[in-house]
Amino acid sequence: MTQSQFPHLLSPIKLGKVELRNRIIFPAHETLLQSDDGLLNDAYIAYQVARTRAGAGLNILTAASIDDFSFTQPSQPRLDSDETIPGYRAMADAIHAEGGKVFAQLLHAGREMYSAADGSAPLTFSSSDTYAERFHIRPRALTISEIRKIVEAYGAAAARAVEAGVDGIEICGNQGNLPAQFLAATINSRTDEYGGSLANRCRFILEVAQSVRSTIGPDIAFGFRLSAADLDNDGLEEEESLEALARLDASGLVDYLHIVLGTPSTRAGAMHIVAPMEAAETGYVVPFAERAKKRLKLPLVATGRFNTPQSAELAIANGFMDAAGMTRAMICDPRFVSKVREGRIDDIRACIACDQACIGHFQRGYSVSCIQFPESGRELTLGAYGKADRAKKVIVAGGGPAGMKAASVAAMRGHHVILCEASGQLGGQAILASKVSGRAEFGGIVTNLAREVELAGVTVRLKQKVTKELIESEGADAVVLATGSTPRLPSPERIEGIKHVTAHDVIAGTAKVGQSVLIADITCDWAGVGAALQLSQNGHDVTIAVVGIQPGETMPTYVRDKSAARLFEAGVKIINYARLYGADGNTVYLEHVAALKPIVVEGVDTLVICHGGEADRRLEREIEGLPIERHIVGDCLTPRTAEEAVLEGLKAAIAL
Ligand SMILES: Cc1cc2nc3c(=O)[nH]c(=O)nc-3n(C[C@H](O)[C@H](O)[C@H](O)COP(=O)(O)O)c2cc1C
Ligand code: SF4
Repeated sequence: MTQSQFPHLLSPIKLGKVELRNRIIFPAHETLLQSDDGLLNDAYIAYQVARTRAGAGLNILTAASIDDFSFTQPSQPRLDSDETIPGYRAMADAIHAEGGKVFAQLLHAGREMYSAADGSAPLTFSSSDTYAERFHIRPRALTISEIRKIVEAYGAAAARAVEAGVDGIEICGNQGNLPAQFLAATINSRTDEYGGSLANRCRFILEVAQSVRSTIGPDIAFGFRLSAADLDNDGLEEEESLEALARLDASGLVDYLHIVLGTPSTRAGAMHIVAPMEAAETGYVVPFAERAKKRLKLPLVATGRFNTPQSAELAIANGFMDAAGMTRAMICDPRFVSKVREGRIDDIRACIACDQACIGHFQRGYSVSCIQFPESGRELTLGAYGKADRAKKVIVAGGGPAGMKAASVAAMRGHHVILCEASGQLGGQAILASKVSGRAEFGGIVTNLAREVELAGVTVRLKQKVTKELIESEGADAVVLATGSTPRLPSPERIEGIKHVTAHDVIAGTAKVGQSVLIADITCDWAGVGAALQLSQNGHDVTIAVVGIQPGETMPTYVRDKSAARLFEAGVKIINYARLYGADGNTVYLEHVAALKPIVVEGVDTLVICHGGEADRRLEREIEGLPIERHIVGDCLTPRTAEEAVLEGLKAAIAL
């Protein structure tokens, strides 16, 4: 296995006068690792450099705001003043020291600023005062003199980045940002030279390109990133985008073009900016790249769900694009490029597009990580573990995500680890999760963690229940309890009057249900949505009653919105704000949790219970009093998601 498997992906490419050592790019993405006032710091540098060290061809840094009104959220990295230069310089030096190249990305979010620094509703500016429906923002239309100042600010920000030592500049014209707000006819209703015809709507983009090129000179690489299509009926159309790309291509101002898909401005469009597994297949940007490439002469970078080298290699080999952006692929596996170079393809921890800890964290205001690799984004803390002082004999009870992570990291730290799983296969609840309609890729977490267990040299014992006797007879020094959870039922009086099953049984395919089904969902996550979709696909009449505002409300935003689309298309009836009160015959009694009034649903053949899990604490109780080091991780601590399971598995392994 050599790099000849991926000759195109691993070959160098020139973007303007800057040569990249290969065509695997770590694109710009918000990490929230920078300081609260938007300065680049050690944590963010360590995060980026981990990917450079593994051989990334190029790191494009998080979009940086260029003036006081251009951020999406207040801690956005900034290039709006000279005080930002030292942080960028430290980053550029660190990346260069590892043989990489680094570009800065410049942002004016226009109306896509969704939170002001002081908690008030943000004052935003755009091409026109067209309402931004997703973040509920009415922007103010820019005057001509304000447009000129913004164009100059792009140039000034680029100059700061160049002074700091970056190799290139990219304009963030994607993500529904200000350049896209000038380009899209659905947003730009101006009647002056910046609106109307496509040529006028491209004017801002070309002026920005001119401003930046004139300040950075000919030697710094310069590219423009645009959405190839917003994929929403009320957004940028592919033809508009292609025309803008063609004009940039012909302008002589830029060195490369970079396409993505989607827009954060609308629900359907936002599903494509960081597309979850339900919304898009691996490498689904390729047909858009192919169409764009036919119109362009400059090198074309395309980003959008490349999680394996194969799909990117093929697209480049076919001439559809010249380089691949792989954001989540390298969030999930920082060593992606070195594994590609070494031909260790089976060892790549492929991103499963769950959106949980990368964009999901960002959406909740936390810094970037990965559910499969919690060391990501924590390079200076949890990612910095070394060998243990003393090798211990460790028994890990439970082969789900928590147990597998604990076992593999403990073994890497030099411990002798036996991983015991009571069933016949590793994976635990993740196996069930991968049976949810549209979420088969979730099974990748099992494949990936099982591979890490194998590579770390863990002894795996399937169909092996851990007992007090086993721990004693093995002479273990420590035990990690990762025994998981079982489905939880409401108190018997609420459900004894009706035929009932659990959502878990529905998803596993073991439940027998009648024609008319009511799902009582208190967790508002994948299980309720999964049961609803599965039953409706099988021809049942399905109603889902959720305690929350909508089904799936605890899921990452784009997964939730895609689920809303799928439930709508499947004709699933939704009752929100409803908790299960009781049932009698074919009647289910719910209570509206805000009004505290009854909601009566008649004609229900089967009640599907979706009340989450119950921690399996049997082993914990059995070994109470045993003088042994113990760590309890994942669902058996208290049921949550795979993210917490893997994170706690890691922490336990570090503590051993
Ligand atoms: C946490 C996160 C933050 C992002 N922030 C930005 C950003 O600041 N600028 C940008 O152009 N794209 C941003 N993106 C989009 C990514 O660059 C990329 O286009 C997207 O993740 C799709 O690529 P992938 O499928 O390889 O992950 C972000 C993505 C993620 C996961
Ligand atoms: S959290 Fe999920 S989507 Fe994000 S990088 Fe990890 S595997 Fe990929």
